[in-house]
Parts: sequence; C-alpha cells; structure tokens
Amino acid sequence: MKFFIDTADVGEIKEARALGILDGVTTNPSLVKKSGRTFKDVATEICKLVEGPVSLEVVSIDCDGMLKEAKELLKYGSNVVIKLPLIPEGLKACRRLSQDGVKTNVTLCFSPVQALLAAKAGASYISPFVGRLDDVGQDGMQIIPEIRKIYDNYGFETEILVASVRHPIHVHQAALAGADVATIPFKVFGQLVQHPLTDKGLAQFLKDAEATKA
Ligand code: G3P
Repeated sequence: MKFFIDTADVGEIKEARALGILDGVTTNPSLVKKSGRTFKDVATEICKLVEGPVSLEVVSIDCDGMLKEAKELLKYGSNVVIKLPLIPEGLKACRRLSQDGVKTNVTLCFSPVQALLAAKAGASYISPFVGRLDDVGQDGMQIIPEIRKIYDNYGFETEILVASVRHPIHVHQAALAGADVATIPFKVFGQLVQHPLTDKGLAQFLKDAEATKA
C-alpha cells in the first residue's frame, strides 16, 4: 500500500519524507490556499522535492479548459498527475489525457458508480473522499471495498486512492479493503506511529538498560 501526504505545506512534506515511507503528494486548491503561498511557488517546490507522483488540480470546469491547464501543470515536472473533478467534463478530459499517456487523478468521488465511470475513462487514480461522507452521516469507508470489488470484477487498473482521511482508523480500514493508496494529512501520519504501550515499553527498556550499565 502506498502512502501519499495530503498537503501543500513543504515543511510537512519534508518531515513526512524523512520517515522514509512517503510515496507521493496530493494537493488541492484549498490546501494551496492554506499554505499561504502562490500556486506557482508551491507546485514548483513540491515537484522538485518529491520523486513520486504529485497531484496538481485543475480549476476549469470545461474539458478544453482542463486540457489547456493540464498542459501548463505538466511543465512543473515529469511526476505531475493531473487532478480532475468527477463531472462529465472531467471524465472527457480524463479520457483525452489518458489516451495521451498523461497520469490522472479523478477527485471528488463519493460513490462506487462514480468510481466505475472514472476507471472507464482511463483514470490512473480515483479519489473517494471518505471523511466528507462521514461528515454527512454516511459511513465513508463502506464504498472502498465496493470500489475494490468493482475494479477487480472487470480488471480495471485504476488505483484506489483513499482521500479525505481524518484519522488512523481510515488508514487501517483502507489497508484491509485493499486500497492501493491512502493520502494522509500530516497530523494523521503522526497519529499512525503513536501507541502509548510503545512509549511505556521503551521507557522501561531504557531504564533497565541503564541499570545494567555498571
Ligand atoms: O485532497 C483531497 C481530500 O483529501 C480533502 O480532504 O479533509 O478536505 O475532506 P478533506
């Protein structure tokens, strides 16, 4: 399973990368806004810093506009993945880009049939937003095994990229469901590694090691 970080904060990317388990980065316009920097600055720095795939999102809502933007976004690096919204125009753009060999990440997916459409359009990644489904009272994680089943039924190679991750349980369930990737906020990376019994056990080992020194 691959781990991406869901952020446009370069400091967070550097820290997560230092763990040695980071495979890529996803951004969106809201995350770039949160970084307080311009899109150009952030995209340039992230694409240079990270070797793995970096999702950069278009903001056009028509196919031609998306394709035009994609052309510009691809200039940031060979690792750029074009993030497209799951709307009819986004599917059209996805088909065109995948035909040209461009990697795509179809975002704002909230149902298994939407995920099926994205796969049929040739998406490299599908991003189901599990946390936002939880927010409206639906069990967001429920759609992940369903998407897995649908993709496996028909041999689609589109990678399931679990997004809108809010806590370690989402990552745990994504792994059990056979998701290909989870894009994880920086805070959740920290929570994943933490366990009070690890800390307690380590403190005891260090104390006992001290006692056997002399
Ligand atoms: O990058 C897309 C997605 O992960 C957004 O998450 O927390 O804004 O629902 P969130």
